Amino acid sequence: MKEKINVFDYAETISKALRPGILLNSNGEKFNSMVIGWGHLGVVWGIDTYCVYVRQSRYTKAQLDKTGEFTLSVPLNGADPEITRICGTLSGRDIDKADYVTLVEPETNHTPGIKEYPLTIECEILYAQDQDLSRIPESVVGRHYSGEDDFHTMYIGKIVDAYIITDEE
Ligand SMILES: Cc1cc2nc3c(=O)[nH]c(=O)nc-3n(C[C@H](O)[C@H](O)[C@H](O)COP(=O)(O)O)c2cc1C
Repeated sequence: MKEKINVFDYAETISKALRPGILLNSNGEKFNSMVIGWGHLGVVWGIDTYCVYVRQSRYTKAQLDKTGEFTLSVPLNGADPEITRICGTLSGRDIDKADYVTLVEPETNHTPGIKEYPLTIECEILYAQDQDLSRIPESVVGRHYSGEDDFHTMYIGKIVDAYIITDEE
């Protein structure tokens, strides 16, 4: 079952879960999920949004560009180390991550949530922008970008649904 929420009531929970990592799910060629540690909940153009940052090299990027949507899955009892390892270090190009998590049908978009990480935010991409390394402070570039070709693209997702997956049928 899904219990609908006002996502802003969970802003602190979602933000604190970022450092250990939440999941960014996509569903293009197939379902895929990657750990993200960068992101923010907010309002843009008067619309409730969640913004994510995805490097060019991620399998996830091709999926987002193809489908124009994503679903976020946030743990409520801490990150699972095995899910972090699989979704945070391995690529959907090489493995099927759907084999390692329990998928839950989405409500509004077409990208499933994950039972193990029950707080779910379904988004449709409103806007995407490649980062311009020339406008990022050198100290940050030095720390995060070794080559010119693996910068991040920022995706602003319009929140189209938010709920907690419960154990009840
Ligand atoms: C804690 C943590 C946070 C991460 N945050 C991000 C992020 O915000 N953006 C990003 O592009 N990669 C991030 N990564 C790396 C991706 O999760 C990782 O490269 C993943 O294997 C990509 O999967 P994919 O190729 O199937 O898309 C993070 C990894 C970890 C462990």
